[in-house]
Amino acid sequence: MTMVSDGSNDRSAREADAETPRHVAVIMDGNGRWAQARGLPRTEGHRKGMETVRRIIRHASKRGVGHLTLYSFSSENWRRPAEEVGFLMGLLKYFIRRDLAELHSENVRITVIGEREDLAADIASLLGEAETVTQANTGLNLVIAFNYGSRDEIVRAVRILAERVARGELAASEIDRDLLSATLFTAGIPDPDLVIRTSGEQRLSNFLMWQAAYSEFVFSPVLWPDFDEAAFDAAIDEYNGRERRFGGVGVRQGAK
Ligand code: FPP
Repeated sequence: MTMVSDGSNDRSAREADAETPRHVAVIMDGNGRWAQARGLPRTEGHRKGMETVRRIIRHASKRGVGHLTLYSFSSENWRRPAEEVGFLMGLLKYFIRRDLAELHSENVRITVIGEREDLAADIASLLGEAETVTQANTGLNLVIAFNYGSRDEIVRAVRILAERVARGELAASEIDRDLLSATLFTAGIPDPDLVIRTSGEQRLSNFLMWQAAYSEFVFSPVLWPDFDEAAFDAAIDEYNGRERRFGGVGVRQGAK
């Protein structure tokens, strides 16, 4: 495994490492089951899951991942009991208040994707602060998907483009894949090379559906609170063993 050895903490320099995926996106699943297996309330699973979040951010940064997207709260998660929703909101606030300064000093940039309008003012303002404080950082781009849902994201982008067409600023024929991509919350972020889902579930659950069109998927049986550096490395090793063809013929077959 080639690790970047120049000590650089710069995203563009680290992206030159061919064996490290440029963008890893993670569906952090299994917090509830982890807690239930121990006779604990589900919220304890989220609390432990938060510790995994902190470890994996540091590890991904060290490994030279350029962009790490974490599915932290989906637009469907509002359906959970109010107490659990409140706990998850509190955890996000705690994370930003506790970790922002340290992540900033580690050159981590924070980007938030998802709908902000439905969020409480204090949460929206903390998310905005995290982005503003770190926007010039050139290390790992930590993308927090919060109140995020892929279908809503696509509908929102279509509406923005339709309004531009209605105002006469854009011809419908000018709408193409690149323009739609540039109108999503993820504008400017490369598509994920690797999507990891923990806990053995094998679904996309409304996560980055447009962006993951050609991503590799690794489904880890490990519950998110138990997911550690070794499990992350194992997922990257599995990714490196795959041949990505992007709809083409692929190097091995093409060479025949
Ligand atoms: C899925 O487990 C996990 C979530 C819905 C929340 C994930 C949140 C965190 C790990 C902490 C917050 C992170 C940040 C960056 C603020 P589940 O509850 O669906 O587990 P289950 O399928 O076992 O019930």
